[in-house]
Amino acid sequence: MERGILIMSFRSPVFLLAFGAGFLLASFHGDAPAEEGFRSATACTRCHPEIHRTWRSSRHATAYTAPLFQVSLDGARRENPQLSLPCEHCHNPLRFFLDTDDPKASIFALEGVTCDFCHSVEFLLQGIQGAGFPRYLVNPGIKFGPYPTSGKSDNGAHRKKFSMLHTQSVFCAGCHEYRNAHGIPILSTYSEWEESFYHGKNVHCQFCHFPGLFDAPFIDPGIKKGPIGHDMAGGHSRELLAKALPIRATLTSNETEACVTIQVKNEFAGHKAPSGIPINRLRLETTLYDGDRGVLGRGEDIFERVLGDGNGMPLRMPERFFPAAKEVLKDNRIEPKEVRKIVYRFPLQGKAPRTAEIALLYEIFLPDLAPALKSSTIPILRIAVPVTAEFPWPFVAFGVLAAAILVLAAVLVIRR
Ligand code: HEC
Ligand code: HEC
Ligand code: HEC
Ligand code: HEC
Ligand code: HEC
Repeated sequence: MERGILIMSFRSPVFLLAFGAGFLLASFHGDAPAEEGFRSATACTRCHPEIHRTWRSSRHATAYTAPLFQVSLDGARRENPQLSLPCEHCHNPLRFFLDTDDPKASIFALEGVTCDFCHSVEFLLQGIQGAGFPRYLVNPGIKFGPYPTSGKSDNGAHRKKFSMLHTQSVFCAGCHEYRNAHGIPILSTYSEWEESFYHGKNVHCQFCHFPGLFDAPFIDPGIKKGPIGHDMAGGHSRELLAKALPIRATLTSNETEACVTIQVKNEFAGHKAPSGIPINRLRLETTLYDGDRGVLGRGEDIFERVLGDGNGMPLRMPERFFPAAKEVLKDNRIEPKEVRKIVYRFPLQGKAPRTAEIALLYEIFLPDLAPALKSSTIPILRIAVPVTAEFPWPFVAFGVLAAAILVLAAVLVIRR
């Protein structure tokens, strides 16, 4: 049934209409000479070596070949081959713009989200609200890019054209925003950004995800400049995570209990943390030790979005939740710029706490897979805080009062 709906949307009149329009435009568009087809990323290496190098190591380049994606795609194919097609719209996008028997299709599959897909995009074809595809209209005769000059590239290598779209978040939304046929948000990085303060400041995805730009004081989009690396680091980059999600903590104790107060801030992510596909999650682990490193207590919190099947059962695997999710069971991810405060109280049975250790981890969680693939963990930060005695408020209040009385008395004496 659920599968039926997904296939329906894929074969729906809207899809056919959009596809038909795309086909017509692509074949009759005046600017697109038919002989100039898509080219492999290797064709760009000679003149754009740095961009090619960084793209090569990006997750875009392996979007189709990544083992996790292949495992999930196999799962989808086993259930229903039609079901796996929508997956490829985002993980192997050029496939839909080539003839079915084009031998180049297999080369482009190895390149995942390749240069000539992104740089041939002329328009976003339809809204990103629905579950339908395709979403982009491409014109492989021209390289669309961020520079406000058009015409031939300096040495006549290819035609190029200024595209405002490429400098804005909505360009990424075609693949980074997806609601399934039940209206459930599976990917919502774009809408999370749209609701954040970055939207108002015109700080687009590009600004943070092309690294040369991230290191700049990114609040001033005016200073953006190229050439720009295409690694598009995200949740898989420990360095970026550590910069983006600072943590602070204090440990206090009195006779009966110890209290660990932690603040996790989403300092630099332009969307919720974590964002993206709901197999990404953040885990916060807290351990309280005494002077002999005996464990006095443990606490754990997980920040994630969990989707369900409509009857309260969590769906953890992409091939299941993409088509079948009918509800959001949990979403406690950290909003952009939010400071999330977490407090643990540990009863002390006569033991004295010495330190609390707090670790923040990023996890890819796929419980239904074989143990070796099930989850991978990136440790982001680990901090240790020493105990400080609880602030003696009653004592201080008494002191302040006594001092005030003394001052008053002194003033009265002097006045006399
Ligand atoms: C023979 C050299 C050469 C090759 C090969 C080449 N380019 Fe270029 N490209 C250039 C030059 C020169 C420019 C202009 C640079 C500038 O303006 O700073 C350029 C500019 C661009 C731009 C920026 C357009 C703009 O106006 O914003 C894009 C995007 C681009 N190339 C993509 C590609 C892609 C994708 C490939 C491979 C399919 C490719 N190029 C292959 C030489 C080349
Ligand atoms: C996921 C989509 C995507 C892929 C894949 C991609 N690019 Fe880009 N590229 C962009 C966007 C978006 C910009 C503009 C960023 C901005 O300035 O706002 C850009 C900018 C550029 C520019 C102009 C900026 C500069 O530094 O000169 C060139 C040239 C370019 N890309 C070439 C390439 C080449 C070559 C590849 C493959 C090796 C590639 N791109 C892969 C999206 C992509
Ligand atoms: C054609 C579809 C497509 C477009 C367009 C696209 N992406 Fe992606 N992006 C993907 C896919 C698919 C992945 C996941 C690849 C994987 O993990 O195997 C991905 C991964 C990423 C990641 C890596 C996240 C991580 O977990 O480390 C970042 C960051 C990212 N994209 C940013 C962008 C930005 C910014 C833009 C717009 C300039 C953009 N993408 C445009 C499809 C796309
Ligand atoms: C203000 C900077 C900033 C902006 C704007 C921004 N990002 Fe990110 N993004 C980050 C940081 C930092 C991370 C790593 C922390 C994390 O994973 O939450 C990240 C992570 C990601 C990831 C990996 C998801 C995850 O949590 O593992 C994806 C995908 C992504 N961004 C895509 C986008 C897209 C698409 C846009 C625009 C709609 C965008 N980003 C806007 C800074 C930004
Ligand atoms: C609307 C575009 C879109 C569609 C459709 C889509 N994906 Fe993805 N997928 C993405 C993006 C974007 C990411 C990366 C997000 C992030 O970094 O968190 C991703 C990440 C993944 C990952 C994690 C990859 C890794 O190496 O960590 C798996 C697995 C995956 N997708 C499987 C699927 C399957 C199976 C389907 C079809 C049922 C599918 N996707 C359909 C856009 C899409």
